[in-house]
Amino acid sequence: MSITSKPFGQTADGKQVDIFTLTNNNGLVAQITNFGGIVTSLSVPGRDGKFADVVLGFDDLDGYINEHPYFGAIVGRVGNRIAKGKFTLEGKEYTLAINNRPNHLHGGLKGFDKVVWTSQAIETAEGPALRLMYTSPDGEEGYPGTLTCGVTYTLTNDNTLKIEYDAVTDKATPINLTHHSYFNLAGHDVGDILSHEVMINADNFTPTDKTLIPNGEIRDVEGTPMDFRTPTEIGARINNDKDQQIKFGGGYDHNWVLNNKDGQFALAATFYEKTSGRFMEVLTTEPGMQFYTGNFLDGSNVGKGGAVYKHRNGFCAETQHFPDSPNQPNFPTAILHPGQTYKQITAYRFSTK
Ligand code: BGC
Repeated sequence: MSITSKPFGQTADGKQVDIFTLTNNNGLVAQITNFGGIVTSLSVPGRDGKFADVVLGFDDLDGYINEHPYFGAIVGRVGNRIAKGKFTLEGKEYTLAINNRPNHLHGGLKGFDKVVWTSQAIETAEGPALRLMYTSPDGEEGYPGTLTCGVTYTLTNDNTLKIEYDAVTDKATPINLTHHSYFNLAGHDVGDILSHEVMINADNFTPTDKTLIPNGEIRDVEGTPMDFRTPTEIGARINNDKDQQIKFGGGYDHNWVLNNKDGQFALAATFYEKTSGRFMEVLTTEPGMQFYTGNFLDGSNVGKGGAVYKHRNGFCAETQHFPDSPNQPNFPTAILHPGQTYKQITAYRFSTK
């Protein structure tokens, strides 16, 4: 195993950015930059032993500095949507940027995906690791409190990309960190993800209004296109526009209420791509997972090696607290108080079938 680094460029304000290459004992390779904590490539073998890069992304830093749909990034301070960019905490109303009309999305105009994290490469017994740190100042993007965050990526020798998050604050604040890789287990440049077979370990999901804000209900997946309790192709029901939820999302863009209720590290979902044989399991301590099928990809992002990322060419499995939690009293709380430590662990484990 090894971890090496090289310069990846500079931000407009002159900050040096690096890119790290983590290689495990089986030859899997993850490249991660300390700009946004972005996973820029992830090379894993298929059934025939051939490696493919299974995440969408860009060849250079500018691709990530320019506007893009959060390819590979760490998303924060609050991932997902906050209705109308407003919430009240301890009697005070906070106003955030409306960057996804009419709502706030993924931490605002300059979220954790657009900042430079300090970095430390570590060789652990499990595999090569990269520790990233970022201190978000009080009031950044409208959020209260100085939030000191850490994210540790480990590419383990059992072929898992493990992400451990931690944070402390000096004032009560909402927090909902997640990871936003767009996966295509056939390869980032191969085409749509509709024939991947998906299992989501969830009996319920959180239905939304047409702006993708939950209406507060926890709805049974039974009899709906959201029922992935047995492995089902993504494409099987994705165009069922008689289903109002599918219509609102333009496909899948919803939060599943994972059956894992008590914060245990447990299986959330599996993804299988038959042609290559690649199989990915997602494990998490989080109560929810946004399964997003790249419905807004439209060919305007030209990525690695000139790949054109079109409609549904990648999917995200964003383990997290539920969308709009700060405004939804019956959802698990996403408020971190001084003296508490926020922790979340998510792992993407690769094998073949
Ligand atoms: C959201 C999508 C959004 C995408 C990129 C996902 O987490 O659920 O609605 O388009 O991120 O911003």
